[in-house]
Amino acid sequence: MLPKLIEFKTLKDERGSLSFFEIGASRQVPFEIKRVYFLYHLNEEPRGFHAHKELRQLAVCISGSCTVLLDDGKEKIEVIMNKPNQGLFIEKMIWHEMSNFSKDAVFLVFASEYYEESDYIRKYDEFLKLI
Ligand code: TYD
Repeated sequence: MLPKLIEFKTLKDERGSLSFFEIGASRQVPFEIKRVYFLYHLNEEPRGFHAHKELRQLAVCISGSCTVLLDDGKEKIEVIMNKPNQGLFIEKMIWHEMSNFSKDAVFLVFASEYYEESDYIRKYDEFLKLI
């Protein structure tokens, strides 16, 4: 399994950097965004440990760094996220765990659906059964 990474278009000049993406069928992000959430003031506790039945997500470590483990039920990969101009797609039915947050980490997520607890698979053995 290869991580679905996207490098945002970035304009850099003497004032700093500006990164952006657009949403649409032939744009960088192919799904509608209905929700945005962000993790910050994080300690060493890993987070995630679930998959989603339908939700599609695009995660960006907008500040600092962290490690994201992705697991499709067959293979596990680890992605180190430390660039604000890089996004990682976390597609449906991908078990994911986030860890190694730096003190200044801000983990920003663009999600295709509103929050719905029934979309979560929180037990790994259930995930393996459903896959
Ligand atoms: P969860 O997605 O389990 O995050 P993590 O794996 O990082 O701990 O969410 C933690 C809690 O926050 C859970 O009770 C659901 C709630 N929550 C919302 O109400 N809305 C949201 O958009 C998100 C992401 C979580």
